[in-house]
Amino acid sequence: MTERTFSIIKPDATRRNLTGAINAVIEAAGLRIVAQRRVRLTEEQAKKFYEVHAERPFYGELVAQMTAEPVVVQVLEGDNAVAKYREVMGATNPANADEGTIRKQFALSIGENSVHGSDSLENAAIEIAQFFTDDQIVG
Ligand code: CMP
Repeated sequence: MTERTFSIIKPDATRRNLTGAINAVIEAAGLRIVAQRRVRLTEEQAKKFYEVHAERPFYGELVAQMTAEPVVVQVLEGDNAVAKYREVMGATNPANADEGTIRKQFALSIGENSVHGSDSLENAAIEIAQFFTDDQIVG
């Protein structure tokens, strides 16, 4: 089934000029980038986006990191896009990520892990709606 998922290229990656290299991995996997914008997240946006992690010990640092430098927010489209992008990203902790995945190739640590991807179709719709209107997504 054709799905859409939400992706963020995180500050550790934008800082190292890896947006294009990461997009190349995404496209090589057969996912289409149907919306994309470079943005500096506000504290309010980052807190809301990561609300589910509010009680976790790393929440404060996560919000601080995600707002300190630009990110690239994206919508990816393709067959089985949610699960496929999670495969392409690799494990949250790059130490556990498979060869060829984005995180294996580029991530610095569990906190600076280069990309975010939605964990379910339901969350994908919620996350996409936080950053894009329907007319900004061109499939
Ligand atoms: P992400 O997929 O964006 O979702 C939450 C983020 O919290 C995660 O990727 C990591 O970058 C970050 N994070 C920092 N520390 C941890 C941790 N111990 N466990 C899980 N996620 C963490």
